[in-house]
Amino acid sequence: MKIAMIGAGYVGLVSGVCFADFGHEVVCVDNVAEKIEALRKGEIPIYEPGLQELAASNSEAGRLNYSTDLDAAVAWADVVFIAVGTPSRRGDGHADLTYVYAAARQIAKAVDGYTVVVTKSTVPVGTGDEVERIIRETNPEADVSVVSNPEFLREGAAIGDFKRPDRIVVGTEDPRAIAVMTEVYRPLHLNQGPLFFCERRTSELIKYAANAFLAMKITFINEIADLCESLGADVQKVARGIGYDKRIGDKFLHAGPGYGGSCFPKDTLALVKTACDAESPVRLIETTVAINDNRKRAMARKVIAACGGSVRDKRIAVLGLTFKPNTDDLREAPSLTIIQALQDHGARVAAFDPEGMKGAEQLLSGVEFGSDPYAIAAGAEALVLVTEWDEFRALDFRRLHATMASPIFVDLRNVYPQQEVRRHGFEYVGVGRGSDRD
Ligand SMILES: NC(=O)c1ccc[n+]([C@@H]2O[C@H](COP(=O)([O-])OP(=O)(O)OC[C@H]3O[C@@H](n4cnc5c(N)ncnc54)[C@H](O)[C@@H]3O)[C@@H](O)[C@H]2O)c1
Repeated sequence: MKIAMIGAGYVGLVSGVCFADFGHEVVCVDNVAEKIEALRKGEIPIYEPGLQELAASNSEAGRLNYSTDLDAAVAWADVVFIAVGTPSRRGDGHADLTYVYAAARQIAKAVDGYTVVVTKSTVPVGTGDEVERIIRETNPEADVSVVSNPEFLREGAAIGDFKRPDRIVVGTEDPRAIAVMTEVYRPLHLNQGPLFFCERRTSELIKYAANAFLAMKITFINEIADLCESLGADVQKVARGIGYDKRIGDKFLHAGPGYGGSCFPKDTLALVKTACDAESPVRLIETTVAINDNRKRAMARKVIAACGGSVRDKRIAVLGLTFKPNTDDLREAPSLTIIQALQDHGARVAAFDPEGMKGAEQLLSGVEFGSDPYAIAAGAEALVLVTEWDEFRALDFRRLHATMASPIFVDLRNVYPQQEVRRHGFEYVGVGRGSDRD
């Protein structure tokens, strides 16, 4: 198959590279010329484990190309994926579909022969209908099928997720499109990756329902964590105790500073807005959004409480800035809100992240960025672990103790056994660890 991937961001690039690896011919298109130039030189603009190598081998094999020329790529392709951003619209929280509709207009003018246009971006129910309307209005001669195929990959584990998905959801009832999409995903289907066909609107809603459910699960355990702190129970054990139940499952039950990232915050909000417009409100998700919003600043208050009620003029060291490990993505990262709240209370913040500091320099002001955990901890009143990168899992507490102004460790990801940290003379504050025992 000849595939044009419109948008070479986190989703478009990973999908394009993986499709090429399946043996398809792929052109990744982006309208940011510097991005395409860098990609052609073999430089991957995002941090995603394994992507660099996989992109290089498929480029060498001649199956993967990069271009700014959308028209040529679309005219050449059998299948065109739209993988552009759908951020929250400023002001009202609806999904901003400007980029999707602009891409649809461009695609309409360029298609040549029967083409399947697939929306991979996360889009509200009805967007496929509008993409189809735009294409038919712009080019009444166009022979296209418009399909929904939401993406479920996770940043940091994107290649594995794309190649070994739990399911592939395809929203179309058009037999020609079903045949093409089956061919596109045939290599995965052979690997038992279940291909699930449904109507386009259902497919669009599946993506939002999945993300909303996961966001709700995280928020649930976060509230249970707070209750554990009040009642002297341990949320880690509560999570394990309920997770053994297959109806509940043990995934997404890690208490922490609240969900962030490029998807959950905007997708939950967009679902709330869609549901309101449809006069069928989703109150569980409305509440999830509200609880999660409050939680990030509450984590700053946890740090302040650990520091005896004030952080004014105190140095606070923050470990981890990205919204999760193994990515450089800072979109809606809890660290940003926590640092802002600490600064609002007069703290001097120092921070370190293995991949996120370049991006963070654009987003944060007044933060001192250090070269490693020990550099930022020197002279600090508290060390706060916000993102659980592997390299923060074996800190040398003896070394930290020797350089910090006071030995306070706030572990917002519950990475460490609290007794181990205390043994080194630290005060330990975790999330939902109301019991003293590990
Ligand atoms: N990031 C994730 O983990 C993830 C997971 C699943 C689904 N999604 C969804 O996938 C979509 C893309 O997300 P992302 O994180 O990859 O976004 P992104 O911002 O990283 O990438 C979007 C890319 O599209 C390009 N673009 C925009 N308009 C264009 C046009 N007309 N022509 C060519 N290129 C254009 C931009 O320059 C950018 O490089 C969103 O709808 C998101 O919700 C993201």
